[in-house]
Amino acid sequence: MANSQPIIRLSGVSKSFGQTEVLREVDLEITAGHTTVIIGPSGCGKSVLLKHMVGLLQPDAGDVFFRQRKISGLSERRMVPFRRRMGFLFQGGALFDSMTVEENIRFPLREHSFGTDSMQKQRCREVLAMVGLDGLQERFPAGLSGGQKKRVALARAIALHPQVIFYDEPTTGLDPIRADLINELILRLQKMLNNTAVVVTHDMASARKVGNRILMLHEGKFIIDTTPDGLDRVSNEVVSSFIAGRAGPEELAELANHRITPLPKGETHS
Ligand SMILES: Nc1ncnc2c1ncn2[C@@H]1O[C@H](COP(=O)(O)OP(=O)(O)OP(=O)(O)O)[C@@H](O)[C@H]1O
Ligand SMILES: [Mg+2]
Repeated sequence: MANSQPIIRLSGVSKSFGQTEVLREVDLEITAGHTTVIIGPSGCGKSVLLKHMVGLLQPDAGDVFFRQRKISGLSERRMVPFRRRMGFLFQGGALFDSMTVEENIRFPLREHSFGTDSMQKQRCREVLAMVGLDGLQERFPAGLSGGQKKRVALARAIALHPQVIFYDEPTTGLDPIRADLINELILRLQKMLNNTAVVVTHDMASARKVGNRILMLHEGKFIIDTTPDGLDRVSNEVVSSFIAGRAGPEELAELANHRITPLPKGETHS
């Protein structure tokens, strides 16, 4: 059974960029061994929230804890032992284009002085096998499909046996079959490694499939905290429109200001 202490805790976290208030006194406890999914529209602050959990952004107010230790405000150097326990799948994959698949995966291993050269090679083979890509070690990212890039990035994220894996939009930009393959991988890794996962997404199929718990971020706060089944019982209009993928009056009003003028007769787009 999962440890009942939260592995990550946010307490009263607020963050603004200029006049834009992105997070407003957010409280959140991430349960160890579970997959917590955070949904919400583009620009609502999901990536900003994740970056606070891994210490890439600092809160204006409030604190972030890893187990019982406060990690907000730590210097990069003091963050290193905590980072070693975290795997991060960045939005867009973010592989180094000038490095081969193997070099990409070995990058965090080198940074954290993981074993000898042959141990690193072996670990690279293991994690590539886990994502079904052993044999592609010498390829460069330019020679991979979008789905393969995500899987390599996933292999890199798990290379150091992290206790928590953070996935930022793991299925975005993939066709439904490739997206489902990533969902299956997230589920399989969770079973195999028994780790904690935090997934940020606006892909509802993915949220339902991988999540034990689903939260929705809206205007700097969580407006739902439920289970995949619980989603169908939510009565909040903002939430149900989002889940159904329906534009509401606010979104449609944005279009009303931009009239679409037809081209004059005889003219074509060049
Ligand atoms: N480093 C930064 N400097 C200034 N503004 C930022 C910075 N990072 C994020 N923002 C702003 O914070 C808001 C939330 O951004 P964030 O990237 O968290 O959105 P998101 O929910 O992840 O969106 P998406 O689903 O499109 O990835 C946006 O208005 C964004 O412009
Ligand atoms: Mg984002």
